[in-house]
Amino acid sequence: MLHEQSSATIRIDSVTNNDFYNQSHFIKCLQETHFHVIFAMEYWLILLLIVIGVISIDYLFRSFNFFKRHDIIHVPPVSSFATITSIIFPRKSFVDIILKVYNFNPNAKYYGFYGIINPFFVLRDPELIKTILVKNFEAFPDRPGFSDLNNPLLEKNLFSLRGEKWRNVRSLLSPSFTSSKMKMMFTLMSECAIDFATFLSTLPTDKCNMNMKDAFSKYTNDVIATCAFGIKVDSMKDPTNKFYVYGKEVTNFLEDHFIKFIFLKTFPSLGRILNVKIINDYVLHFFKDIVKTTIATRDVEHITRPDMLQLMMDIRDKEGDRKLDIDDMTAQVFIFFFAGFDTSSTAMSFVAHEIAANPEIQTKLQQEIDKILNESNKEVSYEVINQLEYLDAVISEALRLYPPVAFLERTCEKTYELPPALPDEKPAIVKKGMPVWIPILAIHRDKKYFEDPEKFYPERFLDNKLHNSSCYMPFGLGPRMCIANRFAILEVKVLLFHLLARCELKPCAKTESPIKFKKGIIMMPENGFWLNIQHRKNMHPLLESTIVDN
Ligand code: HEM
Repeated sequence: MLHEQSSATIRIDSVTNNDFYNQSHFIKCLQETHFHVIFAMEYWLILLLIVIGVISIDYLFRSFNFFKRHDIIHVPPVSSFATITSIIFPRKSFVDIILKVYNFNPNAKYYGFYGIINPFFVLRDPELIKTILVKNFEAFPDRPGFSDLNNPLLEKNLFSLRGEKWRNVRSLLSPSFTSSKMKMMFTLMSECAIDFATFLSTLPTDKCNMNMKDAFSKYTNDVIATCAFGIKVDSMKDPTNKFYVYGKEVTNFLEDHFIKFIFLKTFPSLGRILNVKIINDYVLHFFKDIVKTTIATRDVEHITRPDMLQLMMDIRDKEGDRKLDIDDMTAQVFIFFFAGFDTSSTAMSFVAHEIAANPEIQTKLQQEIDKILNESNKEVSYEVINQLEYLDAVISEALRLYPPVAFLERTCEKTYELPPALPDEKPAIVKKGMPVWIPILAIHRDKKYFEDPEKFYPERFLDNKLHNSSCYMPFGLGPRMCIANRFAILEVKVLLFHLLARCELKPCAKTESPIKFKKGIIMMPENGFWLNIQHRKNMHPLLESTIVDN
């Protein structure tokens, strides 16, 4: 009994011990998990409280009253706040939001608007805009762009660099974007465009409906890989290549990390303290390794190639005290991803949409292209592509109606006096540190400057007068305008040339025409950019052989 009892006891004891061990282990794990959860919660709670505190105090005491105190026409704080929240918690498309802000007072040259934590000026008048972006550049040299300060490569991003640092990098990079350098890169781009167009023209019928933004982002990726990083990939054939997968991770930040992006843009220093990152370290290491390895191979094997990396390798030793190290070079080629990937593929998607929606425009383009193929015996040169007037007009019109960068920003560096917004108003002072905002998209759609502005009408660009108008600025204006506008236009032209030479673009069941824009910050149709792509039945005979060869 005793034995039984004791054995029972022992058995019970041992069970109890086990149980105890399991329970205590379980409790310990729970405690640890709980601790982590509480710690993470506390972390975010503190962050949230700081954010709310900073926003409230700043907003209440400084911002809310700014324009009223200074007697400046402005969008009331409540409407401003409603507009900002409809961007963060998407209730309207970005196009509708910009148009609404722009149409607040159609007669004023500018007015005030309340941002998340600070007031800024919305500029409407093209002459005033030109004055600020070009003539008085010294007073507005930088943009309040975001910078992921926890990533050394992005910290050096030309888009967000300021002052002297920006000046140095811009002057270092500008020679890489001249016409002669574009001519060098033209061959690399053409190879990508031919591969891309050939792939599309040989698709089986059940795969002919496609999301064009997705397809064009693969072409853009391949162009960046070859023109900037010096490596060749074909993302249509192999969409799992690391370059494309990581490239998408870098460029999808607006969709994937929008709240983090707004946070870093609003509180960059706090972002640094809290180590908030938009791009994972392994992605940055991947691109840095490519640059490092490519440079080492070229140095050892004395290889030269007509790409951005080579241009930087060539100036690397000539620049005296402005030497470029691997980080600098990686940061600069990285710009292609950050500033060029989405803008270019968005532009291509809108052009393709309008071409498919307007068959007469497509026919005219194809006639212009075929004529060139005939005359050049299919060896199309850089000079010839740039002489295609109608193609140029179609792209310019798409950039007018759908500018991929819908607004510009600048920060005031020196206190600046604006002329009166209306004849009976007083001049207004822009204080150092205040941002100004220029709604390009809305100016491009204002009937004061463009007749029948909602209509896609490439002919308006044929006389070549509009390109230099101060009302047309898809690439910005002044010393801080897009450094790569030539590159971008060429990339789109080369793509359309080879695509339209081989394919017919048609609307499909999912195509929306006219476009209904998706709610939120990304400018795209609600359903995406769907089109049907077909092999061109009347393709130029010179090209039929290349399709067969492929
Ligand atoms: C259709 C395609 C593109 C459009 C519509 C576009 C448009 C713009 C716009 C509007 C700006 C701001 C200009 C300003 O603030 O005045 C800008 C800046 C910039 N873009 Fe582009 N861009 C395109 C393609 C590219 C590409 C392919 C690159 C590749 C390198 C690029 C690199 C940059 C850089 C580095 C800046 C900042 C320039 C500076 O601050 O000095 N862009 N772009």
